[in-house]
Amino acid sequence: MISLATTNDIAEICRLEQENMPHPYSQKMVEELFCNERVKVLKAVKNNRIVGYVSAETVFDESSINNVAVDGAFRRQGIGDALLGELKVQLRGVGAQKIFLEVASRNLPAIRLYEKNGFKQISVRKGYYGDDDAIIMQYDM
Ligand SMILES: CC(C)(COP(=O)(O)OP(=O)(O)OC[C@H]1O[C@@H](n2cnc3c(N)ncnc32)[C@H](O)[C@@H]1OP(=O)(O)O)[C@@H](O)C(=O)NCCC(=O)NCCS
Repeated sequence: MISLATTNDIAEICRLEQENMPHPYSQKMVEELFCNERVKVLKAVKNNRIVGYVSAETVFDESSINNVAVDGAFRRQGIGDALLGELKVQLRGVGAQKIFLEVASRNLPAIRLYEKNGFKQISVRKGYYGDDDAIIMQYDM
């Protein structure tokens, strides 16, 4: 169900961004993910449809997650967990030792997902999202 996404998946990933993210990536930003060899993009497929995706960029031994989104109709079915699990495998494969991310402090579903997957809060950036703080989280491989 989880596999590497390709440029054929750009339209569906854009749809996931539009429907699930408060500040969605533009089509150009999604296209750029696939032009950057440091970026891994994974998709979750159910019934021939992309129902979730995650992307992360790795520089030397540090990765950072750009975005994770799961279609609203498919949440709480373990898809977020599955995407993060496979992402760790992929990032280990390119030598990552740590994974970082930032998440809005009020986004409890995402924070709980990351905590369940072993990420720890390491700092807070006040007002990072204007009306909300960013929590910075780290996972050690
Ligand atoms: C965050 C998100 C990716 C989670 O995806 P998901 O497929 O529903 O997550 P899973 O079903 O794998 O849940 C894994 C764990 O995350 C936590 N979790 C997920 N949704 C939760 C919720 N609404 N409330 C509390 N905890 C939640 C739970 O610990 C859950 O484990 P459990 O089901 O055993 O209790 C999804 O809610 C989403 O796409 N949100 C909108 C986009 C977004 O905010 N992305 C993150 C940007 S930083």
